[in-house]
Amino acid sequence: MKQDMIVILDLGSTENATLARAVRELGVYSEIHPHDISAEELRRLPNVKGLILNGGENRVVDGAPVEVSSELYGCGLPMLAIDHPTARCERRLEAMPEGEALREFVFGACGAQANWNMKNFIADQVEQIRAQVGDKKVLLALSGGVDSSVVAAMLIKAIGKQLTCVHVNHGLMRKNESESVIEVFRNQLHANLIYVDATERFLGKLEGVADPEQKRKIIGGEFIRVFEEEARKLEGIEFLGQGTIYPDIIESGTKTAKMVKSHHNVGGLPEDLKFELVEPLKQLFKDEVRSCGLELGLPASMVYRQPFPGPGLGVRCLGAITRDRLEAVRESDAILREEFARAGLDKRVWQYFTVVPDFKSVGVKNNARCFEYMVIVRAINTVDAMTASVEKVDWDVLERVTERILAEVGNVNRVCYDMSPKPPATIEFE
Ligand code: XMP
Repeated sequence: MKQDMIVILDLGSTENATLARAVRELGVYSEIHPHDISAEELRRLPNVKGLILNGGENRVVDGAPVEVSSELYGCGLPMLAIDHPTARCERRLEAMPEGEALREFVFGACGAQANWNMKNFIADQVEQIRAQVGDKKVLLALSGGVDSSVVAAMLIKAIGKQLTCVHVNHGLMRKNESESVIEVFRNQLHANLIYVDATERFLGKLEGVADPEQKRKIIGGEFIRVFEEEARKLEGIEFLGQGTIYPDIIESGTKTAKMVKSHHNVGGLPEDLKFELVEPLKQLFKDEVRSCGLELGLPASMVYRQPFPGPGLGVRCLGAITRDRLEAVRESDAILREEFARAGLDKRVWQYFTVVPDFKSVGVKNNARCFEYMVIVRAINTVDAMTASVEKVDWDVLERVTERILAEVGNVNRVCYDMSPKPPATIEFE
């Protein structure tokens, strides 16, 4: 480990992640650890230059105040306490330090070097991956999403052909998405890539299924089965690469957090398929994952990809999926993405996509009545996907998108724009 580190001890603050980010923005690496870390555990962390005791509204748990173990006071590291802090700490602040106050502590009191950058991070991870994996083999489910793509690029750099990537095309990918995974990873980065076209299998299982939750269950379950079948065909794999990132770990709960969300990882693999995990991004925030991907040479289009649900276009082809409507979703989505990119909206709007409902409406084409599908365009902005506001898309852009969808997508005679914020509407329709 080449970087200096500031350790943030979680004493019940809801702002641990914000503080960790603020320290990293100064160019100094930081990690959040539980308040009851022992002096021994702290000593084992590399290059720690100082501690921030981050108190806050969850400072009292089950009637008892949260306190660090007293041996930490003798550890000799500079300490800063925030919010109702313990009297034993010399440096105390009422609120989260920003700007000069934080800079003074990190660089002045702790004497940390601003040496946290992606080049150093990648060099560290490559070293750690090689030490962990040795000459063994690693398997990775490569969806083409940002996190799995960056993990793949990192593992290719560290262990090359000892990595096997499996890309499962469930037939619900966006236009050219699987093709670009193959192009980047097989043709450019020379990865061992197994491409499984499971389109027929997924569409078969989904036939006639209209209930959104049922659809999601089928897609998720089938995905694990296909991946498992591929994993069983390979020999001597001991490790599983995974795109866990820092918010997954923070959100999975600290000892003081009141809101706990379970940590989502690939999971669901049968007991007898036991792997040790390799998670080289588990200390990175999302924007750091993107910088890491760019540094590893991935194309910007992959690194800045908008969020895309695991069940893919399956939840945008509403109700029971039919091939003609799935094609309409895929083609209209491609048109929307092209036009948003042309208008520069792709860099500003958080998420934008199309859906096709499972009913038709009356229209007129070539002087004759037609009865065809409708495309709904949705474009939203959000910070955390818990709430979302509708993007006020320029009228000319909407007109152009509409013209192109009506001209280029078969079986469609109507285009609508979804004006609903979240809540009450969710971002996706199913
Ligand atoms: P909702 O529809 O719940 O979506 O407002 C919030 C965000 O989550 C994305 N989403 C998913 N992402 N797997 C994912 O990885 C899923 O099953 C899934 N469902 C929704 C959605 O696109 C939006 O960004």
